Amino acid sequence: MATTAGRGGSHPKSGPGTDYGGIFARKRGKHLKREADDSSGLRRAVGALDLMALGIGGTIGTGIFVIIGEAIGQSGPAIVLSFALAGITCIFSALSYSELAAAIPISGSAYTYSYATLGELVAWIIGWDLIIEYGFSVSTIAVGWGGYLKDLLDSLFGLSLPTSITAPPGEGGTVNLFAAGLVIAVMFLLMAGVRESARANTMLVLTKLLILVFFVVVGFTHFTGSHFDDFAPHGTSGTVDAAALIFFAYIGFDAVSTTGEEAKKPQRDLPIGIIGSLAIVTVVYILVAVAAIGLVPSKTLAGADAPLTEAIRQGAGLGSWAGDIMSFGALVAITSVVLTIFFGQTRIFFSMCRDGLVPFGKALSKLSPRKVPVRIITLFGILIAIMAALIPLSELAELVNIGTLFAFLLVNIGVIVLRRTEPDMERPFRVPLVPLFPLIGAALCIYLMTKLQGTTWWRFGIWLALGLLIYAFYGRLHSRVQRDGQDGESGTPVTSGAGG
Ligand code: ALA
Repeated sequence: MATTAGRGGSHPKSGPGTDYGGIFARKRGKHLKREADDSSGLRRAVGALDLMALGIGGTIGTGIFVIIGEAIGQSGPAIVLSFALAGITCIFSALSYSELAAAIPISGSAYTYSYATLGELVAWIIGWDLIIEYGFSVSTIAVGWGGYLKDLLDSLFGLSLPTSITAPPGEGGTVNLFAAGLVIAVMFLLMAGVRESARANTMLVLTKLLILVFFVVVGFTHFTGSHFDDFAPHGTSGTVDAAALIFFAYIGFDAVSTTGEEAKKPQRDLPIGIIGSLAIVTVVYILVAVAAIGLVPSKTLAGADAPLTEAIRQGAGLGSWAGDIMSFGALVAITSVVLTIFFGQTRIFFSMCRDGLVPFGKALSKLSPRKVPVRIITLFGILIAIMAALIPLSELAELVNIGTLFAFLLVNIGVIVLRRTEPDMERPFRVPLVPLFPLIGAALCIYLMTKLQGTTWWRFGIWLALGLLIYAFYGRLHSRVQRDGQDGESGTPVTSGAGG
């Protein structure tokens, strides 16, 4: 199956087990560094604050505005603990992401880190898996956006649009034009270039944070403590199941790590962006959850389509304008999530194409004169818009979760492996207490994965099997790392199989 490629590519500083080739071929430090320094790459235009905004922008969205209701149905007021558990899982993984992002500041996030640590096959699996986290979630999130826009137009202008153009088949409609329209609009924004997109994103992020602060202030000034009396009606299992679901709300901070080649000072700014955005998001979520339950009993939240809008309408008695503000906030929040996650998807896929693992990848990864991967943006824009227009995707939230937890798991393992195999590698940021912290992070990911439904597991399995087929019949035969040798010197060519 594997070629003998790259067997001669051992690196003098490498530790044990590093000179495998073929499907285990790894990108070495030098190879990675050259990609980071490659002047023909993407524009380095993003600073630490932009990165934090990117992390927050990609995180606070459908989870806190929509999925919180379903999660509260499982946990009751103990949702506060569910948020904390999901947040702790993410914090361990965020530390691992930070170490790898600073040491390997290349576009591609967990995909690239796996390529450097666990080898090409695992990297491909992760890259393919990240299409679930990023691509599928953009469709899901856009559908939620369409629903909010419909509600807001109705509430503000009495404009009741027909379901046929606002819902997909299977949910009483023909095509979800709003959802598709959002994806296409974001596609054009991304084509305009990363600097412009980051600026637009910073404004969206500030707006949504202000609106959530408004919600928390209203919640704390109209607080009913007795709503917390029956704290965990479904016991520990309800609280943990809710954590596995509400984990969705945290997905996105890792998108910061997809900008390795666009950050001005990646070694310093990527850890700040990743850890800083996660810390802010965790605090905001816990405050919002406490405020929401302080406003209305958890049963009201559990049954609502727009839980935060409902909480403020029913619990604060401020009139419909306050609810409209929350709906507007949801629209803004979800827009910035779509922007960030879509952005991340294009960067990961860019790396996969550049590495020769994707059919037609060379043509697809061509950059525009402004150094933007326009063809990849167009491809994903069209595919995601079609999915958002035609498929009811709400149940895919769990699939997005399992895909993300799997990526986090491998990033945690990657830190431990890389410390052994590349002990001398420059690490501007180091996870404390290795291997303990990454092991705790990995264990928490596995624990939450086991709390997801069986259907989620087999859908995930089918998607991975499809990816393996593509790798077996295309990727392993066209891999650039196998062709050029693991250290990227072209001095250790493949002896068979590798082409284009
Ligand atoms: N965390 C993102 C959201 O909640 C995916 O929309």
